[in-house]
Amino acid sequence: MMKQLILLGAPGSGKGTQAAKIVEDFGYKHVSTGDLLRKEIASGSELGKRVKAIMDSGNLVDDVTVLELLKNNCNVHKNAYIFDGYPRNIDQAKELESKILKGVSQQVIYFDVDLEKLVERIVNRRSCKSCGEIYNVINNPSRIVDVCDRCGGQLLQRDDDKKSVVKNRIEVFKNTIFPVRDYYNRAGVLKIVDAGKGVAEIFTEISDLLK
Ligand code: AP5
Ligand code: MG
Repeated sequence: MMKQLILLGAPGSGKGTQAAKIVEDFGYKHVSTGDLLRKEIASGSELGKRVKAIMDSGNLVDDVTVLELLKNNCNVHKNAYIFDGYPRNIDQAKELESKILKGVSQQVIYFDVDLEKLVERIVNRRSCKSCGEIYNVINNPSRIVDVCDRCGGQLLQRDDDKKSVVKNRIEVFKNTIFPVRDYYNRAGVLKIVDAGKGVAEIFTEISDLLK
């Protein structure tokens, strides 16, 4: 049976990029709390209205809201999931275990990358409005400017991908992630990958781990 997969890493470390490739080759379902929250904002829901300013500032949405959203969007007894962007702090890690995973086998991958490199990556990111495909105007551009190669959808920049906000997101990450990494390290399920490498090389390393 496939293990539940948890991707930990800084903003722009490549979690979404690798998740898409893992889905394609290994048949996991992808659940990104950031994507779920952005969907709520796009739909104009009450929840979306409540979280928009928090996300636009680069701070974390409260644990209760995010856990509820996640619970409604995964069923680990039915599928193997890639948890992308959750957990982000130690309380979320404990809740993921006690309220969702409840002892099912899991593999955690930490995307280790020089935080200095990330602002550059993120400000050049574009994502497809329709299918979510991720591009980078410098190192992975679409064939036609602002048009998705995969589905022809429009490419957009995320509202929280402005330089000043990105810097705060990285600060928040630095202040919250290390107890999470230690928690999984102690549980013996943590694998660290060098996320400063190229996309293909990182994917080979992850594939070897999942085979
Ligand atoms: P979220 O959407 O999760 O954003 P994030 O964690 O900041 O991560 P990103 O999506 O920015 O980066 P990524 O690692 O997916 O990188 P990507 O593959 O796109 O969260 C957004 C917000 O939602 C949070 O700030 C918070 O407010 C809220 N939120 C979400 N989850 C929450 C939670 N659990 N609790 C509370 N609040 C929560 O790649 C980035 C760019 O780099 C792309 O252009 C890509 O093409 C390029 N790239 C990728 N890999 C490489 C590589 N190896 N080399 C060079 N370029 C690369
Ligand atoms: Mg992402």
